[in-house]
Amino acid sequence: METKKRVITEEEREAQRVFARQVAERIAGKEQKACVVTYGCQQNEADSERLAGELVAMGYTMVSSEKEADVILVNTCAVREHAELRALSITGGYKHLKEKNPDLIIGICGCMVSQVVRSETIKHSYPYVDFVFGTEHLWRLPEMLYAAMVGGRGFYPNVGEAVVCEGVPVHRESSFRAWVSIMYGCNNFCTYCIVPYVRGRERSRRPEDILSEVNELVRDGYREITLLGQNVNSYGKEFGDECDFADLLDRICAIPGDFIVRFMTSHPKDASRKLIDTMARNPKVAKHFHLPLQSGSDRLLGEMNRHYDTDTYRELVSYMREKMPDISLTTDIIIGFPGETEEDFADTLSMLSEMKYDMLFSFLYSKREGTPAARMENQIPESVKAERMTRLLALQEKIAEEKSKKEVGKVLRVLCEGESKNNPSKLTGRTEGNKIVLFDGDIARKGTFVKVKITEGAAFALYGEIVD
Ligand code: SAH
Ligand code: SF4
Ligand code: F3S
Repeated sequence: METKKRVITEEEREAQRVFARQVAERIAGKEQKACVVTYGCQQNEADSERLAGELVAMGYTMVSSEKEADVILVNTCAVREHAELRALSITGGYKHLKEKNPDLIIGICGCMVSQVVRSETIKHSYPYVDFVFGTEHLWRLPEMLYAAMVGGRGFYPNVGEAVVCEGVPVHRESSFRAWVSIMYGCNNFCTYCIVPYVRGRERSRRPEDILSEVNELVRDGYREITLLGQNVNSYGKEFGDECDFADLLDRICAIPGDFIVRFMTSHPKDASRKLIDTMARNPKVAKHFHLPLQSGSDRLLGEMNRHYDTDTYRELVSYMREKMPDISLTTDIIIGFPGETEEDFADTLSMLSEMKYDMLFSFLYSKREGTPAARMENQIPESVKAERMTRLLALQEKIAEEKSKKEVGKVLRVLCEGESKNNPSKLTGRTEGNKIVLFDGDIARKGTFVKVKITEGAAFALYGEIVD
């Protein structure tokens, strides 16, 4: 399929800076607040940090409650129906905020409204929403916001461009963990998935741009960098042999400093031996691999258009474990894909027992309009999906608990994230393998690496004590 990659020019960026100054002039001296509400994956979180970056650059103060805000942006997700329903319901709730404050500006963006039907729904059923823009227009926020302030409602649908824009300011949530998108979009068209339709064709950022962003983050004291893409293993295809994903990782690891690098997501059809070798020899790469399996049935993997079978997957995992025996392995599973029989599901359960994942993200199949799977026969009743989910979670809980118990006695490096939300008397953090650990300690440890000796392992968390 043709890729219409478009890199935003310096002139276009300058035009946005002019709009940004005009917005800044209009709000000068007024103490204006803005709130970005985010649904969906890390890509969306990374995008929201750019939206917030633009808002801060224009003079807004970021707040976490919509009730206080003068500008609300909702960055939506479309991956499952549930995500869309939540975004629509929260948007519905803003009606009364707008009635109280007619100057409030509401913008809806992201994957959900990158579908024409959803953008039309907002246009007709949510008249108090001021502007709606697809994922391709994120870099134009100053222009769209200015237009909403001086003009009427604005609608900016995607036009099929694979946009890359450098230089957008970023307002990061954390001062020690950072998202770095290395590529955008997806070309894989798994038959259940909406992402390629709402995020456009795959395109990569230039390695120099990524390296300079990471360099700056490390200089600013960031300790964990997560490289993001829908399929990071196909990073850099458009640059030929110049720099593939393994090369990029090598170059990032060469940056001096005390930090670790993570990445997601990997597609089993593209994850290479070269990447595994690169991980194994670079101590800065976290020893964690997120490798979505989706289903343990070869027949269903075919129907899903995944381009691998369970044997290829097995070989990849055994190579990985041979090179990095302690690597943590996590996956995504879809339950109830059209036509999933009891045998297919049993194959998924047996892959779980065989792979022994450290963690599992499991999703009930959700029909996405416009995708091939939505038109397939034999859609699975919700009650069957739910029952299978219960069995899957029960099995995984046992596996995760067994794996956690094996960690007891080990001393692990943990990036301390601060107080645990569920247990504020404890500190929390994640191991390189991305497992949650709870331990006692001083809050001053937040944002630093600590050595923790694991004393107890449960299915969803480890417990331990600081030993350094
Ligand atoms: N690009 C990544 C992640 C995409 S979305 C990848 O290829 O793995 C994250 C997860 O959502 C997917 O891995 C899949 O398990 C799940 N997912 C995607 N579409 C879905 C749908 N229609 N119903 C249920 N789960 C879905
Ligand atoms: Fe969706 Fe497949 Fe692309 Fe992942 S690789 S975003 S599951 S189409
Ligand atoms: Fe992510 Fe949801 Fe879009 S999972 S790419 S925010 S559809």
